[in-house]
Formats: sequence, structure tokens, C-alpha cells
Amino acid sequence: MSESTHGMWSSRLMFILAVAGSAVGLGNIWRFPYVAGENGGGAFVIAYLACIFMVGVPIMIAEIALGRAGRKSPINTMQDLAAQSGAWGGWQVIGWLGAIAGFMILSFYSVIAGWSVAYLFEMASGVFVGADGDFASAQFSGFTGNVWVVVGWHSLFMLLTTFIAARGVGKGLETTVKYLMPALFVLLVLLVFWAAISSGHFVEGMSFLFAFKTDQFSGESMLIAMGQAFFTLSLGMGAIMAYGAYLPKGASIVSSAVTIAVLDTAVALLSGMVIFPIVFAHGLEPSAGPGLMFITLPLAFGQMAGGQLFGTLFFLLVSFAAITSAISMGEPAVAWLVEKVKVSRVTGAIIVGGLAWLLGLGSAFSFNIWSDVTLLPGRSFFDTMDFVSNNVILPLGGFLIGLFAGWFLDQKILAEQLEGTSEIVIKLLRVLMRIIAPVCIFVVFVMTFVG
Ligand code: TRP
Repeated sequence: MSESTHGMWSSRLMFILAVAGSAVGLGNIWRFPYVAGENGGGAFVIAYLACIFMVGVPIMIAEIALGRAGRKSPINTMQDLAAQSGAWGGWQVIGWLGAIAGFMILSFYSVIAGWSVAYLFEMASGVFVGADGDFASAQFSGFTGNVWVVVGWHSLFMLLTTFIAARGVGKGLETTVKYLMPALFVLLVLLVFWAAISSGHFVEGMSFLFAFKTDQFSGESMLIAMGQAFFTLSLGMGAIMAYGAYLPKGASIVSSAVTIAVLDTAVALLSGMVIFPIVFAHGLEPSAGPGLMFITLPLAFGQMAGGQLFGTLFFLLVSFAAITSAISMGEPAVAWLVEKVKVSRVTGAIIVGGLAWLLGLGSAFSFNIWSDVTLLPGRSFFDTMDFVSNNVILPLGGFLIGLFAGWFLDQKILAEQLEGTSEIVIKLLRVLMRIIAPVCIFVVFVMTFVG
């Protein structure tokens, strides 16, 4: 098939912006800096880069190639490709796992994204100007502790996501990334300059991010680096496969995937370059955990010249990053509903958005009325969603995708998708996709469970 029935990206550049939009998200700006901070900075960054380029990029190439070869929702694409390759029909499970993970990730992602939008307004209102640490913490716990407020912002964010998804691939997804992604890069560069000039601690921030400190880097850090690589590139659940289905024929998959990985990594590192210098400038802890972005940063912004403006711009950046990611999470499920249940795109988007919203209530409650409720032992509803999707389904999905594309797919199909790629790159990719990536993922996966 040369076109998808769901629509097509109008160019390779739009595809790159769309996938980069999916990849660049809270994972880069909210999660990466604090996990790097907790795991020794520079040492973690190196492990992370290795995971991105040795495991992430090959799996991304596999996802895009499978998607474009099938031109359907991941569930139906897997079914078709397995049939064409004479492989077991059960490979479809990759599509199903992905659709389920999409719901789970979208549900809790929307809660945090809602906070980011709320903080955009808080920053603009000036409440943090001159604030001290106690005020910033109290502000955050007061905010997350109010169930109506958290549910309200979660609902608003999900409504927006559903609206964009309902408008379809061209008018909805492409239009959104076409404007927001360039804006995001401009805002980020602006913030890096501001942090460099006004914090007075740029060098300290940089050396934290790039200095090789092995003492805080443990075996577990390796697992976290791999998990982060998957999450940040949106891999393992078919989101990229779904986007690949809308990629025009002839556009190079390998160079697109490398470009996207470079962009995504650049945003993570640049975010660190904004965050750490201002954290150090105020003698704050870089390893503050998830509160880094919502407590430490507002506090730091509140104490700096221009902090109200640049703090507002920062949360605007985060909100843009979050919405372009969220719209990719439901795509596998929306596309499947349209294909299989024959609903309209609008109905499909409302069903997916509605169910994810409902599931998200559990995560929203985890910070207030369900703060004592645990789903898995010792994990709140929110933590359970995060853990099961990121540490179980994404690695499992990535592992199966690598295995399928490398060993079970009719290799003529893969070769066709990679046409135009040089021999040596194909050979390297073969080894990475068939052996290195699955083995690495498998080891990490097993280690996560044996502790
Ligand atoms: N990559 C996004 C981030 O870094 C999150 C994301 C979007 C995602 N789509 C995904 C993660 C699909 C896993 C699967 O914030």
C-alpha cells in the first residue's frame, strides 16, 4: 500500500517533527534532569547515550519500517506482516500490548501535563516572586493535594489532546507539531542563554551534567538509563509504528531516526543546561526527584531577575512538549478503532480520550484522596501505572519488536523499507537489531525483576 487510509504526513520533515514531537516531552524536561541528578550526572548521561544509539535507534528504525510496510494501526499491521512472512499470528500481541500501554501512559502523563499547564499560569501570576523553599513546597503540596484542582487540569489537558486527535493526521497532528515544535526549540535556546547569563553557575551546572562521577552510578542506574531511553524515544508500544504508517514512500527511515534521536537527546541535555545552573545558583539539590520541576525550579525562578517571565516561558515550553507527546499515545488505539470497529475518527478519539481520562482519575487521586491506596505492593495507583508501562510493557514491546523485525519478518520487506541505505549501515543495523538490542533489553528486563 502506498498510502494509509488515516492520512499521510505531507513531507519527511513533517514526519520528523511529528516523531520528535512524540519523543520530546515530559521525559526530557521533567524526568531526564532528575534521574540524571539522582544517578551521578555525567556517568548516567554516558550510559543513557549508549542506550539511545545502540538500542533505541535500531528499535525506532524497526518500528518505523514495520509501520510503513503495514500502513495500518499497529495491531493490524502486525497481523498483516506476520501473515505475509508466514510467521505466527500471535505476533499481533505487540499491537495489543502497545495499545494498552498507550492508555496507561496517556492516563498518568495527562495528570503531570495538567500540572505543567497550571504552573504556567501560577508563574505568570507572580506568586513565586521572592518565594522561599517552604512556600514553594507548600504551594506544590497544596496544589496536588486538592483533588478538584488536579482533576480539573487533567480533564482540560485530556480534552485538548482528544480535540487534536479527533481532527486527524493532517489537520490535527501535523498542524500542531508544525507550529509547536519550532516554537519549542526557540524557547529552549532562549532559556539556555538566559540561564547561562543570569545564573552565574553555568559551568557548575555543565560539569554536573558531563563530569564522570561513578560513585552514584549503580547497576540499577543502568536499568534506569535503558528505561529512560525507551520512554524518551516513545518506543516499545507502537506509537512510532503508527506514525511510520503515515510516512511517504521513499523518505529515508535510517536518517530520519538518527535525526530524531539527536533532536531528542539535544532537548534533554539542553533542558539540563537550563535547570542545573539555576538549581546550583540557589544552592538547591539537583537530586530532588520528581519535585525538581515543580518545587525547586519555581523557587529558583522566583529569586532571579526576569524569573517571572522566563519561568512562564519555561512552563509554556513544557506544556508544548507534553501536548505533542500526548497526541501520539492514543494513535495506535484510535487507528485500530477506526479500522476494526469502523467508527469515525472523532468517535475513536473520544472513546480513547475518555477511557484514558477515566483511568487517569486513579493517578490524579494518588496525590490526595487515594494517597494511602496501593495497587502493586508499595506503589500508589500513579506509581503502578508508571512502573508497569515503563518497566514492563515498553521493554517487553521493544524486545518483541526487535525480535520480530530481525528474525521473523520476511527480510525482503525490511530491505524494501531500508532501500537506499548503504550496505555497511545495513550490516551494522542487522547486528544491532537482531542481537545487541534484544539481548540488552532482555538483560535489563530480567535484572529489573531479580532486583
Ligand atoms: N517520549 C515522551 C516523553 O519523553 C513520552 C511518550 C510519548 C511516550 N509517546 C510515548 C512514551 C509512547 C512511551 C510510549 O515524554
